[in-house]
Amino acid sequence: MAAERSETERARLPSQGEPWAALRERLVQLGAKDVDWRGKRSAVYVFHPGEDVLEVAKEAYALYQSENALGPAAFPSLRRMESEVVAMAIDLLNGPAEATGNITSGGTESILLAVKSCRDAAAAKGIDVRGAKIVLPRTAHPAFDKAAHYLGLLTVRVPVGANFEADPDAMRRAVDARTLMIVGSAPCFPYGLVDPIPALAEIARDHDLWLHVDACVGGYLNPFAEREGVVLPAWDFRVDAVNTISADLHKYGYAAKGASTLLHRSAAQHAHQIFQFDDWPAGGMSTPTVAGTRPGGAIASAWAVLHYLGVEGYRERTRRALSARRRIAEGVSALGLRIHGDPRLALLAYGMPEGDPVSIFAVWKGLYERGWFSGVVQQPDGIHLMLSPAHDEVADRYLTDVAECLAAARRAGGGAEIAAPVRYA
Ligand SMILES: Cc1ncc(COP(=O)(O)O)c(C=O)c1O
Repeated sequence: MAAERSETERARLPSQGEPWAALRERLVQLGAKDVDWRGKRSAVYVFHPGEDVLEVAKEAYALYQSENALGPAAFPSLRRMESEVVAMAIDLLNGPAEATGNITSGGTESILLAVKSCRDAAAAKGIDVRGAKIVLPRTAHPAFDKAAHYLGLLTVRVPVGANFEADPDAMRRAVDARTLMIVGSAPCFPYGLVDPIPALAEIARDHDLWLHVDACVGGYLNPFAEREGVVLPAWDFRVDAVNTISADLHKYGYAAKGASTLLHRSAAQHAHQIFQFDDWPAGGMSTPTVAGTRPGGAIASAWAVLHYLGVEGYRERTRRALSARRRIAEGVSALGLRIHGDPRLALLAYGMPEGDPVSIFAVWKGLYERGWFSGVVQQPDGIHLMLSPAHDEVADRYLTDVAECLAAARRAGGGAEIAAPVRYA
């Protein structure tokens, strides 16, 4: 076996290949210091629906790992899988008969394509789109700023209300003649709260704006949470002003990474998403998404997991994720900690009560040292959890550790000097 080199030493292609068994072992070793997500220790980056679903996602991915959805004529299998996944998503999100969409590589690509479609639809109407604006709540994902940066647009981030949700009055005031798009999240990443989409829809109607609902997190969670009795504001195509919805298969859809859906209310809107080119020797090229080559594995994995779980399977996973969030929210509240807003789904952020000398980041650090990995939020400071079904099994252990880390932080004098420990991404 080749000698291990240090991380800083520049890697070179080995002159002789190495046997798979040894390489496999090395791959496992490389992951030894990664967060223990299989042990349910990470509440960010990974979604854990149970080993059976992970196995289905993996096997389906492997079956189609070499196939390429760039070529639907060569791979009618993938074309069919994509159209079935999109149809299921439209059905779940109450889309009209003419709704359509695509599988993309992830939430960021779905958002980029929604913004591009909006921009190009406006340009087709003769609107000057250079430096035009997207108005969004401060809690919306940075993918919108990335999209604006790539597409020559600007974002206007508007502070949220005291309930941590988008403030429709403030957003209405932020809209001007150069605004093209308004955004709400269902839910937002930082606090797990669903923005008041019907109120944003009124603004969209009044100013003829494109309304995008970012349901990257909630697209495959909210429909099942609602079936379990969770009350949310209307957030999907039931709100008639909603133009596009992003919904990630690789989050609460539990598919292998590299899969999201972007859904359009109509084919006319969707036409603005497509890129066409034919002025080169190899013929016309028409691509609906950013990628050229599109991994068949990601599409097959999403198709397989949706079929494997079905409505009942998702409801069961959702019940467990909701239970984890409820138990943790109740547990940290009982310790005197404060929940940011009124989270009803599987995410929450919690921090110290106003005026408490202890830094929540000291608690985060204690939890980290005990093997728990999660994000943080700032202003106000808090610990951020994006919970999976599997977390229901470890909620009590987590709460015991929160109590002990809080007590330790108090004994140590609060830890106000501890800076925000991690940045998201
Ligand atoms: C609300 C929301 N939108 C968009 C994204 C971006 O998704 P991705 O990381 O798949 O690009 C995320 C990621 O966490 C998110 O939480």
